[in-house]
Amino acid sequence: MNLIQVVVDAFEEKTQTFPIGMSKKQSSYVESSSGVGRQIVLMLDFKKSDYFVDLGSGEGKFIQTIAGLSDCNFLGVEFSNSLHLESLSINSKSPNKERIHFAEDDISNFMNHLPEFVQPSSIIIYLYLVEYQLEQSVLKKQLVDLIDGGARMITYRHRLVGLEKWEYKHDEKFGIYIYWNKQN
Ligand SMILES: C[S@@+](CC[C@H](N)C(=O)[O-])C[C@H]1O[C@@H](n2cnc3c(N)ncnc32)[C@H](O)[C@@H]1O
Repeated sequence: MNLIQVVVDAFEEKTQTFPIGMSKKQSSYVESSSGVGRQIVLMLDFKKSDYFVDLGSGEGKFIQTIAGLSDCNFLGVEFSNSLHLESLSINSKSPNKERIHFAEDDISNFMNHLPEFVQPSSIIIYLYLVEYQLEQSVLKKQLVDLIDGGARMITYRHRLVGLEKWEYKHDEKFGIYIYWNKQN
C-alpha cells in the first residue's frame, strides 16, 4: 500500500479530518468557517481574562476570526511546521496579535503553552478533529479534568461520547456542541 492510499484510507469523511496522532506529513487542514466563529461568540459568554485554545489550529485563521469578535486571549497548538509558520506570518499582521500565541506542538502538550496562572474556569477549548483516537487517549482525561474544574469546551461537527454528565448547548445548523460543568 503506498502512502497516498494510507492517507486516503485514514481520512474521515464525516468530519473531513484525520485522526489525532497521525504523522505531521499526513495531517489535513480544513478550516472552520467565520459563520461558525460568529455563532460561537453568540452562544458563549467570553470574558477578557479567558483563554480560547484551538487544539489543531492550522493557519490560525479561525483564531483570528474569534479574536476580531471578542477581547480574550488565544492559544493555537498545531503540529504541522508549515501551518504553524503560516499562522505566525498571518498573526504578525493582525491587529490582535498581542493577545494571540501559537505553539508548534502535539495537542496533548497544550497545557505547557498556557501561562501557569490560568485557571481552568478561564479556559475555553475548541476542538475540530476526529475524536475516535481521543476516546482512548491521555488527552481525553486531561480535557475531562479541565471541564470538571470549570473549563468550557466546544466541539465542531462531532459530539464527544461520555460527556453526558455535563450540560451542553447544541446548535444543529452549525454542528456546534458546548460542554461545561454546571457546578462551577
Ligand atoms: C480540521 S483542521 C482545523 C483547523 C482549525 N482549528 C479550524 O477550526 O479552522 C485540524 C488541524 O489539526 C491539526 N492536528 C491534527 N492532529 C494534531 C495533533 N495531534 N497535534 C497538533 N495538531 C494536530 C492538523 O494539522 C490540522 O491543521
